[in-house]
Amino acid sequence: MRKWFVWWLVGGLAAVCVAAMVTRGMGFSARATPWSAEEWMVRAARRWATPDAMRHGVNPVAQRPEAVEAGLKHWADFCATCHANDGSGDTAIGRNLYPPAPDMRGPATQGMTDGELFYVIEHGIPFTGMPARSTGTPGGERASWHLVAFIRHLPRLSDQERLTMETLNPRSPAEAQQKTEIDDFLSGGKDKRR
Ligand code: HEC
Repeated sequence: MRKWFVWWLVGGLAAVCVAAMVTRGMGFSARATPWSAEEWMVRAARRWATPDAMRHGVNPVAQRPEAVEAGLKHWADFCATCHANDGSGDTAIGRNLYPPAPDMRGPATQGMTDGELFYVIEHGIPFTGMPARSTGTPGGERASWHLVAFIRHLPRLSDQERLTMETLNPRSPAEAQQKTEIDDFLSGGKDKRR
């Protein structure tokens, strides 16, 4: 065995021992903020692993208003819990995940190709809170392309669109009941609490 190999092996084992001693009992929290180097490496690994054909995929529904609208509805229902209606990621769940939900209006997300966004939406991101939503059907893929169109629209989201989304966000049974009561009251109906 060559001498340099032995030195590398000893050095590697020593590094593992030091890392084990330093991290022993140091605690962990999903509230921690990832290091920039960590974020950079994870993004680079994702780009590297995305199949070429997908990375250069062209959005078949393009940036048409109907596509953005369909994506908006879907987003408000399934994605906003973590990503927020405006894509900022500023929700109770989104900001307390590790890594947290990113601000998708910024250059890191907007700099991804349409194909990369589609791939993440369909397949999710392992070891993070980002779930896969692929159904293996043409309809499901179309819905994911609508979401890509909506993500491109996020930096220009209007106040009116945000308000529309609030009416589409999922509600807990208690919130749904409260809304029915308020709607009833406002429309002059009988207030059920009495
Ligand atoms: C349970 C929380 C959760 C839900 C629900 C969720 N996401 Fe995510 N998503 C995340 C997290 C956390 C990340 C960041 C992962 C990372 O940094 O590696 C992420 C990342 C992404 C990314 C990559 C953005 C980037 O800059 O890396 C896209 C695209 C995305 N989500 C789209 C969606 C869409 C579309 C939906 C709804 C169909 C959705 N997500 C639902 C948690 C969620």
